[in-house]
Order: sequence, then structure tokens, then C-alpha cells
Amino acid sequence: MSFRTRRYFHAFLEEDLKRVEDRIKEVPETRVELIESIYRYVTESVGKMIRPALLLLAAKAVGEVEEEAIELAAIVELIHIASMVHDDILDEATTRRSRPTVVRKWGIEGGLLFGDFLISIVSHNLSDLNPRYTKLVSKAIKRMCEGEFIEFFYPPSVHTYLKVIRQKTAILMTLASQLGAIAGGGRAEDLIRLGRYGMNIGMAFQIVDDILDLVGDEEIMGKDGKRDIKSGKLTLPVLYALEGEVGSGKDIMSLIEERKGIEKAYALSEEFVRKAKKAIDPYKERPAWEAMMDLADYILSRDS
Ligand code: FPP
Ligand code: MG
Repeated sequence: MSFRTRRYFHAFLEEDLKRVEDRIKEVPETRVELIESIYRYVTESVGKMIRPALLLLAAKAVGEVEEEAIELAAIVELIHIASMVHDDILDEATTRRSRPTVVRKWGIEGGLLFGDFLISIVSHNLSDLNPRYTKLVSKAIKRMCEGEFIEFFYPPSVHTYLKVIRQKTAILMTLASQLGAIAGGGRAEDLIRLGRYGMNIGMAFQIVDDILDLVGDEEIMGKDGKRDIKSGKLTLPVLYALEGEVGSGKDIMSLIEERKGIEKAYALSEEFVRKAKKAIDPYKERPAWEAMMDLADYILSRDS
């Protein structure tokens, strides 16, 4: 696995994450060789596996990880990969996970069609499972698409930003936690609490992602930096810096520094992490609790 900094939650989930990774690496049956090549390419390096980790931890918070949780964890990671392949087309990104993006290698056609193919695999794999998962998964994908729509077509504001990141990022993490809660045999209240944990983790994750885009090290992140500014995407630190701004003509990075855009955005991500930790209070006695707290801390301290 390509984790730069090995964390407790990775160690805690090691065997199960390995099973998820092996499942993801199983190339789906296809008559088109090129699809196989792209599939191998995108699954070669597995990344941080945050969504599978959320799912497995939720299952462990309420019960045990069975085969169904492994399959669901592979499904959420495939949705994530598909969304990244499409997102890289929208953002004209050239690098992800330290390698050329699918769109860079196979063009818009390749990226678009491969993302569609992955979603077809998700729906195929889901059809083998209990139908109660399908509704949650399809609702989440729908909301992710809506989030991207809002981001690209609606006027930016702090309010809109929070709505967008809830939909494009936090919803998939909420889904992961909820699927894990169900697969682990949780009750309705577990679904709510663990969903809340995933949602708040997701909000903090995307804010930190947007901070890293501005000030992170491209080599460590494995993707292009300052992409948001270059493409005119107004993320939280920028929106904070521009609040009440009447065109001083100052460079945006100086404004962000002067108005403490990064610090303010980071403070909000800390607030989300605090809420995430609070949501899992009832699981303090479970062995998964410490790993869930560690994952929450990792979201704030990560550099990639
Ligand atoms: C990354 O944002 C984008 C997302 C988390 C969501 C992308 C969602 C879609 C394209 C719609 C759903 C599509 C499918 C196929 C399910 P970012 O650009 O800020 O992050 P980055 O820096 O990692 O690119
Ligand atoms: Mg992007």
C-alpha cells in the first residue's frame, strides 16, 4: 500500500484493507482490452483508501467485518476512482497519485467513457448484494453529481462552498460509514451516528484538500498544486480572503495571507473533526473507536 505515513487506523485495518485492495485489483470482465489496461492503471496504486477505511471502521464499531463489507468497501472506492477520473477532466488535471491522469493519457473520450464503465461495474457488483444498499448508493452518486453541477454553474459563496463540498465529497464518506454500519449489523441509531461521523470527516477532508491545493507540496500530494486558483475555483481560504473585498488589485495569495484565509479555513475543518469525534462517543468501548479517532486526527495532519 502506498501510505506515506503509516497511521494506527491503517495498522488496525491492515488485513481487511488488503482484502479490499485485492478485490479492487480484480479486473472486471470486459471485451475491450483498452478498458482492462486503464483499469489496471488506475488500480495499480491504491491511494489513501479513506472511504474503505470509513466503511470497515463503521462495521467494526457495531460488529464484525464480513465478506459483504469488503465488497461494499471495494464498491465505494470504485465510485471514488470514477469520480476522480471525471473530476480530472473537469479540472483539466494532469497529475494524480503522482502519475499522469487518465484524461492526460487517454484524452477526454477515454476519461469520460472509463468513468462511465466504472459506474456500470459498481451497479453490477451491487446487484449481487442486498437491495437495501442500492438505494443508498444511487442516492449518494446522484448527490455527488448535483454537487459538481452546483460547483461549476452557480455563483460562489461560503454558503455554496459548504453545500458543494457536502455533496461532492462528504456524501460519499457518509455513505461509506452508513454502508459499514448496516453491513456490521448496526441499528438505526448507529446509522445516524456513524453517518454523522463520515459526514463531518468528509467536510474536514475537503477543506484540508483545498488548503493543500494552495500551500501543499506537489511532490508529496502527488497532484498539481494551485489548480483551484488557476482554474478560477473559489475555495474556502480564497472566499474568506475575498469577503468584503472591493478590488484592491492585490495578488490573491497576499490577500489570503493578510486575511488569514488558511487559518480560518483550518479552524473550520477542526470544528468538523471535533463534531466527527463527538458522534462516535457511544463507541468508546469498541476496539474500533481509537482507530476512528486516529483517522479523524489524520484528516487534519495529512500532507497528501
Ligand atoms: C474532487 O474535488 C471532486 C470530487 C470529490 C467529486 C467529483 C464528483 C463528480 C465528478 C460527480 C460524480 C461522478 C461519478 C462518476 C460518480 P477537487 O477537484 O477539489 O479535488 P482534487 O484536488 O483531488 O481534484
Ligand atoms: Mg479536481
